[in-house]
Amino acid sequence: MITSEIIGTGSYVPEKIVSNDDLSKIMDTNDEWIQSRSGISERRVSQGEDTSDLSVKAAIKAMEAANVVATDIDLIIVATVTPDMYTPSTACIVQKKIEAYNATAFDVSAACSGFLYGVSIANSMIKTGQHKTVLVIGAEVLSKAINWEDRATAVLFGDGAGAVIMKASENRGVKGIYTMSEGDKGENLEIGAKEVKNPFLDEKVDNSKYNYIAMNGREVFKFATKAMVTAVEKILLETKEDLCNIKCIIPHQANYRIIQYVSKKMDIPIEHFYINLDKYANTSAATIPIALDEAVRVGRIKKGDKIILVGFGGGLTYGAALIEW
Ligand code: ACO
Repeated sequence: MITSEIIGTGSYVPEKIVSNDDLSKIMDTNDEWIQSRSGISERRVSQGEDTSDLSVKAAIKAMEAANVVATDIDLIIVATVTPDMYTPSTACIVQKKIEAYNATAFDVSAACSGFLYGVSIANSMIKTGQHKTVLVIGAEVLSKAINWEDRATAVLFGDGAGAVIMKASENRGVKGIYTMSEGDKGENLEIGAKEVKNPFLDEKVDNSKYNYIAMNGREVFKFATKAMVTAVEKILLETKEDLCNIKCIIPHQANYRIIQYVSKKMDIPIEHFYINLDKYANTSAATIPIALDEAVRVGRIKKGDKIILVGFGGGLTYGAALIEW
C-alpha cells in the first residue's frame, strides 16, 4: 500500500533566550509560578525575524537531511497562526526565498494542531499521486501576537519553526492520521485579526480585545487533556496498533501538566514522551516538528520505531498521527 514517509527533519529557533526571570522584570510574575504551572523555564524570542525567516532556516535543514534540493519540492504547506502577511501566504514567501519554483504553496490555519493537519494533507496528496515531494512546516512568531501586559498568557509562548520533507513510501511511514475540530469551543483561545472598519458602518464595532492572544486557560486545559487521550486512542484503534509497541510520543508542547495527565491516564511512562517545552515554551504549530527534529537528531527515534505525534490547539482542534520511522 502506498503511504507517505518523513525522509528529513529540521528546526530553527531564534537565538535570543528569554528566561522566566527576564519576564519577571517586565511583569508581575516569577520563575516558581511559571515552572510549577507549566514546566516552562525559558523561551526563544525573535529579534525581528518573521515566520517565513524561521521557516526557511528549518526547511533548509530538513532538505539537507532528506537530501533533496528546493526544485524537487512540488508542494509547500506552512502551518501557522502568525503569518508574515494575510497574503501572500507564508508558504509562498518561503517558496520565493528557497527558490522552490516547481511547487504549489499554501498555509494551513489550525493553531497548535496545524502541523498535524499539514502532515495529513501532505499524506493524502502523496497517496493520490498529485504531489511527490512535500515540505511541511510548522512555524510561529507568537511574540508578535502576545499581549505583553497579560501575564496569564505572555509567559506561555515562544517563537520557532520545524519542518519535514515527505515522500511516497511502500512500507514505512504514516500508518494513520486522525484529526478533529470542535469549532463551538473556539472562543476559549483566540488571536484576533483586524476589526471590521469601513466608511459605511452605522455603529463602530469594538474588536480591540481580539488583537492579541486571549485564552481561557482552565477550559483549554480541560479540553487538551481529553483531546490528547481521545486522539491517541483513535489512532491506535484505526491502525490496530498496541500502545506497548510505541517507542516515542511527540506531544504538543503546551504545558508539562497536560502531558503528565495523559501519561497517568493512559498509563504511559512519562519517559516515553519527548518533552522540550522547558526550553522553548509553546511555539504552537512549531512544537511538534521542533520536538520531532530534536528527537531524531539525539537518537531517540530510530529506523523502524513506531511513534505517535499528538496535539491540540485553537479552533479548537486536535489530532494524532502514527508513523513507522
Ligand atoms: N505569574 C504569576 N501569577 C499568575 C500568572 C503569572 N504569569 N498568571 C496568572 N497568575 C495568577 C492569577 O492571576 C491567579 O491569581 P488569583 O488566584 O489571585 O486570581 C492565579 O495565578 C491562578 O491563575 P489561574 O489562571 O487559575 O492558574 P492555573 O493554575 O489555571 O494555571 C494555566 C494557568 C497555566 C494557563 C493553566 O490554566 C493551563 O495550563 N491551561 C492550559 C492551557 C495551555 O496550556 N495553553 C497553552 C496554549 S493553548 C495551546 O497550545 C493550544
